[in-house]
Amino acid sequence: MEKLKNQKKKGTQVIKRPDLCTADELRNFHGLVLSGGQVTRERLPELIRRAILLGFHYVGPRLAAVAGLKTPRESYKNRVFREAGVEHLSKQSHTELGWAVTRKEFQGSGIATSLIQKLLNQMKDEKIFATTASDNFLMQRVLTRFGFRQVGHAYGDPMLESPSKLLWCLEKD
Ligand SMILES: CC(C)(COP(=O)(O)OP(=O)(O)OC[C@H]1O[C@@H](n2cnc3c(N)ncnc32)[C@H](O)[C@@H]1OP(=O)(O)O)[C@@H](O)C(=O)NCCC(=O)NCCS
Repeated sequence: MEKLKNQKKKGTQVIKRPDLCTADELRNFHGLVLSGGQVTRERLPELIRRAILLGFHYVGPRLAAVAGLKTPRESYKNRVFREAGVEHLSKQSHTELGWAVTRKEFQGSGIATSLIQKLLNQMKDEKIFATTASDNFLMQRVLTRFGFRQVGHAYGDPMLESPSKLLWCLEKD
């Protein structure tokens, strides 16, 4: 089992600014994020182009996983923190970790964890937040491992199929 895990995990990770990505890379990133089903389709290509850093994990020629760091719009960020009941924390957080999706056949082999680690290494001094569906225990497990703590209470996002969401903030020592 451990051997299989290591085999699947093997691959190449690339962390890139969106303006340095090819059109194909941006399209493939977008496609994999959409397949994860946790985002709204509207304006996604634009949001990806405006991201801080995009993470790609390839196994051979296949894009196995993606994740990204972005600067959200103030209005979106403030709404999320307000709805979670922790408006006062909004000013401290400028960067959002998101778009973490691992293709089904590669899940459970530590790929998302190592890709997110690479992204977070680039943003040492930033206050970072993330949101998850309330029932997305796998992503919550990944975030918890990095020191994210759930803040506030569950809030609704009527645009999503799973309307109950949780807000997470990275606690730095
Ligand atoms: C959440 C997600 C990105 C995790 O990707 P991943 O590459 O499988 O993550 P990791 O392998 O680093 O796994 C993290 C933990 O979950 C476990 N895990 C992941 N997939 C699993 C599965 N299908 N069954 C059991 N455990 C699983 C891993 O074993 C690991 O736990 P461990 O460290 O105790 O071994 C992936 O499940 C996914 O793409 N989900 C759909 C999209 C999504 O919900 N994205 C999050 C948006 S906020």
